[in-house]
Amino acid sequence: MKKLIITHCFTSALLLLLTSAYAQTPKSGYDYLLPEMKEMQDDDFGNPGMMAVDAGEIQFSTTGKNGRSCASCHGDGASKLDTKHIARYPVYSTELKKPVTLRGQILICQNERIGGTPMKYASQEALQLEAFVRRLALGETIDVDVSGDMSPYYDAGKKLFRTRWGQVDIACHQCHVYHAGRTFRGQILTQGQSNGFPGYRYTAGKVVGTHERITGCLNNLRAEPYPIGSDEYINFEVNMNARGNGLKIDTPGIRY
Ligand code: HEC
Ligand code: HEC
Repeated sequence: MKKLIITHCFTSALLLLLTSAYAQTPKSGYDYLLPEMKEMQDDDFGNPGMMAVDAGEIQFSTTGKNGRSCASCHGDGASKLDTKHIARYPVYSTELKKPVTLRGQILICQNERIGGTPMKYASQEALQLEAFVRRLALGETIDVDVSGDMSPYYDAGKKLFRTRWGQVDIACHQCHVYHAGRTFRGQILTQGQSNGFPGYRYTAGKVVGTHERITGCLNNLRAEPYPIGSDEYINFEVNMNARGNGLKIDTPGIRY
């Protein structure tokens, strides 16, 4: 009996040691940037991602088909939006019975309240509106609640993050958890956090959101990417944003 207890204690301690070695403290992609990239991000005039934010701001106050603009309901410059709440997305929608992302909520408002030609999840307009809205929450602490109704989506996202993808046959967490901080093809691997998105991808020369960024990695792994806005990407986003709980929103980040 005594021996059994000792063995048990030993294995639990070993397990704890092993898991804690990989239990990451969230670290922003910003912290891995070269000093000159950090400088570029911090300078509103030098940060190319701000072009998307500015374009989103113009759209926000543009009157649409129903004679309203986003600003008609949410105030000039979105003054009535609660930035703490923006940092909680994705949130569970009791109406849709699934999580709704920030871009998803913007599309609901656009398509049901502003009207006109339906705006697509993958459109530049939706991305720019998301960039503008998320930028309002710059510096807010990410705080996604994944309890209750959200928990199955968090788990599904976690499973996706641990799936081995494509011909390369590597899982996201193998690079972004186990090898974070190491160099991979001349780039420093980060934790694959989403707090800087929508952000400017230096290597692609354009602003991308979280879903587009995941597509980038899936393409590199020679796996078939999911459609932007798909349930799979929403699950990914639930898990990724929650993994980053405690980080500060950094939109538009400058990233690799
Ligand atoms: C007719 C009023 C109205 C208009 C116009 C409108 N919204 Fe909304 N918006 C709402 C309401 C009401 C909610 C609360 C959630 C819901 O009922 O969908 C909301 C929620 C939001 C949220 C989430 C806020 C939070 O705290 O969770 C964002 C972001 C948002 N809207 C952005 C936009 C954008 C961007 C536009 C323009 C494309 C827009 N809204 C146009 C009424 C409006
Ligand atoms: C072979 C290694 C590898 C795998 C596997 C991988 N990635 Fe990446 N990923 C990278 C590299 C390299 C970058 C650019 C540098 C960085 O941010 O790590 C990157 C960047 C990212 C970023 C941007 C992070 C930031 O702050 O800019 C996200 C998000 C991301 N990956 C998500 C994923 C997801 C989701 C998967 C699984 C579908 C995945 N990655 C699989 C190598 C990988």
